[in-house]
Amino acid sequence: MDAMQLLHTRYSALKLGEPAPSAQALRAILESAAHVPDHGRLQPWRLILIVKDARLSLGDVLAEGLSRRNPLANEQTLARERQKALRAPLIIVVATRCDKSAKIPVIEQILSAGCAALSIMQGGFAQGLGAMWRIGDPAYDNTVKSALGIEVDDLIVGFIYVGTEIGDPGTRPRRSVDEFAEHWAGGRA
Ligand SMILES: Cc1cc2nc3c(=O)[nH]c(=O)nc-3n(C[C@H](O)[C@H](O)[C@H](O)COP(=O)(O)O)c2cc1C
Repeated sequence: MDAMQLLHTRYSALKLGEPAPSAQALRAILESAAHVPDHGRLQPWRLILIVKDARLSLGDVLAEGLSRRNPLANEQTLARERQKALRAPLIIVVATRCDKSAKIPVIEQILSAGCAALSIMQGGFAQGLGAMWRIGDPAYDNTVKSALGIEVDDLIVGFIYVGTEIGDPGTRPRRSVDEFAEHWAGGRA
């Protein structure tokens, strides 16, 4: 796929299924994360890959997290939470690995990790795969982070679900460039 075509057509899948990316496709997806902008060469992100039965364990972790956050959550709600881990054959958790002692502000490190998440999405799309980016409450739950081996001070910037797109991609309104881009004429207010 031509690079501009990728940038101008990428969208999130609404529904994903098997098959998972091949080992080669996965490698190419992960490689794209290594090429994101990174102030200070800190490489302030890490990726945690969850496949096969490990997704069931993630489902348990999500459900346990939800029942701790909301002790009133009923079985049906917890089952729905558990099911989220089975939304795709591959989940890539993108987390920061911030160095607070570095001269580079933490926000810049977080943005770099966010770029890694987008590159993963694009790396999947470029290879004909579907991907969706979710964060949600589990990302801010320290028990979820701890189960995934993520430090409390670090952030989950995305659960990136990757697989084969199923069904209708739907439509999304895209803003016209003229609505969000303007030239600054210089001068002072
Ligand atoms: C940082 C980030 C977090 C997101 N988290 C969620 C989420 O938790 N739940 C959700 O439904 N959409 C979430 N989204 C939005 C979708 O991933 C997606 O971008 C949106 O539905 C628009 O679709 P598009 O990517 O095709 O434009 C998130 C997007 C970003 C950038």
